[in-house]
Amino acid sequence: MKQAGLFIVLEGIDGTGKSTQSRLLAAWFREQGREVVEGREPTDGPWGRQIRATAATGRLSPADELELFLKDRREHVEQLIAPALAAGKVVILDRYYFSTMAYQGSRGFDPAEIRARNEAFAPQPDLLIILDLDVDTALSRIGARGDTANEFEKRDALAKCREIFLSLQGEPFVHIVPTAAGPEEVQERIREIAEARGEAAA
Ligand code: TYD
Repeated sequence: MKQAGLFIVLEGIDGTGKSTQSRLLAAWFREQGREVVEGREPTDGPWGRQIRATAATGRLSPADELELFLKDRREHVEQLIAPALAAGKVVILDRYYFSTMAYQGSRGFDPAEIRARNEAFAPQPDLLIILDLDVDTALSRIGARGDTANEFEKRDALAKCREIFLSLQGEPFVHIVPTAAGPEEVQERIREIAEARGEAAA
């Protein structure tokens, strides 16, 4: 019998260790003989590259930025996410539309509206793991102290993003995982959550 696809998304503010955790989680599934596809957003496709290029220069209006993230995601869903899930693979993403809710939400858009626009075309994951960390620790992990004007702005924005991420708590597919402990313990917790989901689905 063909195995059903499994869709896991890792989210959280900058500095929470999403990319390390997604790499470790992918390795764990592969050890179990599962085929795994790893992705990240913004993607390395044309729209994602455009987003990364403008991130440095900050030339985009918030509205144009939001449209680019949506275009990038639409392409990601069509080209990678949907086909991999249909083929029964495990898909692990480092950021998805919950980042748009949080980051573009922190820039003034309504997170609920952003969510609705995304869920019109983007499948909801089976598991959303939100890696959580207080903003001070996150800032120090990304090499900022939060005391210059620019860093102060960053602190404010990250605090809003964190608040929006945490507002998702309570939905059945959402799990908040504190990351202050260290990467091994965090990975352990994520694997427990994935295992429980597997048992529930079996
Ligand atoms: P990040 O995962 O930090 O990429 P990298 O460290 O490899 O450059 O993502 C880049 C930034 O993009 C991050 O600050 C969050 C932001 N972002 C949004 O604002 N909206 C979105 O929808 C996504 C996916 C990311």
